[in-house]
Amino acid sequence: MSYFSKIIGVGSFVPKNVYTNFDLEKMMDTTDEWIQQRTGIVERRWVDDHTSTSDLAYEASLKAIENSGIKKEDIDMIIFATLSPDHDFPGTGCFLQAKLNLPGITALDIRQQCSGFLYGLSIADKFIRSGSHKNVLLVGAEVHSKGLDKTPNGRNVSVLFGDGAGAVVVSRAEVNDPKKDSHIMTTQLFADGSLAKELWLPAPGFAFPKERINEAMIKEGLHYPQMNGKAVFVHATKRMTECLQTACKEASVELNDVDLFLFHQANLRINSKVAEDLGIPENKVFNTIQRYGNTTAATIPLGMDDAVKAGVLKKGMLVASAAFGSGFTWASAVWRF
Ligand SMILES: CC(C)(COP(=O)(O)OP(=O)(O)OC[C@H]1O[C@@H](n2cnc3c(N)ncnc32)[C@H](O)[C@@H]1OP(=O)(O)O)[C@@H](O)C(=O)NCCC(=O)NCCS
Repeated sequence: MSYFSKIIGVGSFVPKNVYTNFDLEKMMDTTDEWIQQRTGIVERRWVDDHTSTSDLAYEASLKAIENSGIKKEDIDMIIFATLSPDHDFPGTGCFLQAKLNLPGITALDIRQQCSGFLYGLSIADKFIRSGSHKNVLLVGAEVHSKGLDKTPNGRNVSVLFGDGAGAVVVSRAEVNDPKKDSHIMTTQLFADGSLAKELWLPAPGFAFPKERINEAMIKEGLHYPQMNGKAVFVHATKRMTECLQTACKEASVELNDVDLFLFHQANLRINSKVAEDLGIPENKVFNTIQRYGNTTAATIPLGMDDAVKAGVLKKGMLVASAAFGSGFTWASAVWRF
């Protein structure tokens, strides 16, 4: 017996507090003009003091489950993608599982940063194809705001990131006509760890001698993300372009056949360059970075939910997705929605 999987429900949640570029001007030595020109970002959401990543994930999950039409109790696996876990351990999937009151089911965390959602989609698809699981809740959620250096020292990174969550329910699908029926057609996953330190969060870390974190590390700012922005930009455009082509080839579809492109939202200019290099019309790329900034593992499901709500993404459409991030990791997928 061979199985397929498909996305049957989508949901998202963002905190209510909006921080515009003008708000950031007051914190760090930056300008609305610099941020918009370089990234396309206009505003982002940041949580209040009492909200965690699993809280955002919980709200997005409830909506995805409701939209899927299945009962919460039918979920048999949680895959949680985040780089901002509630705690170092256990994985945030376990905290979410407790909040959803679904004891006993499989809960798995993955650490693939901006590619986390597509890595998770691939894992969900493969577990369902194997026949071991039927209904997987896949969540990408981040609380970046509590981990950013909001002084002028951190401006090159801190203006980019926002908080948010997106979730999908991936379920076993009946596919009679692979050209027409909704299903995940391919997922492609890649990494190059030799470039890990081009975008990383060094501390706390068990690789340090004696202590995971100490005052000297904090003084040096090693507990804040470190990024070589130019290297990220160059590799992101190259890798996203490549892996989109690979995915289309594997799925036996032409780029022209794709109805909607849901790219990771790191920078509007990265997405425009990928679209330009591949001859994709801009109106086929659904961008949300202007309103949310980069929400890392959440960008793709958050964009998917907004696209559904805006009536841009409809059942039966052919969707292609690509992401790039810390690791470096990159990934792509093609599915019939
Ligand atoms: C971050 C990024 C927007 C920076 O753009 P850039 O054109 O490479 O800018 P640079 O880093 O060369 O900095 C240019 C100048 O702006 C300054 N600058 C940096 N951040 C700034 C900010 N937030 N506001 C104002 N000025 C800033 C720099 O200090 C530098 O000043 P100098 O010329 O006087 O030295 C760009 O590299 C990028 O988007 N990279 C990809 C990042 C990304 O996507 N990360 C997430 C990956 S998933």
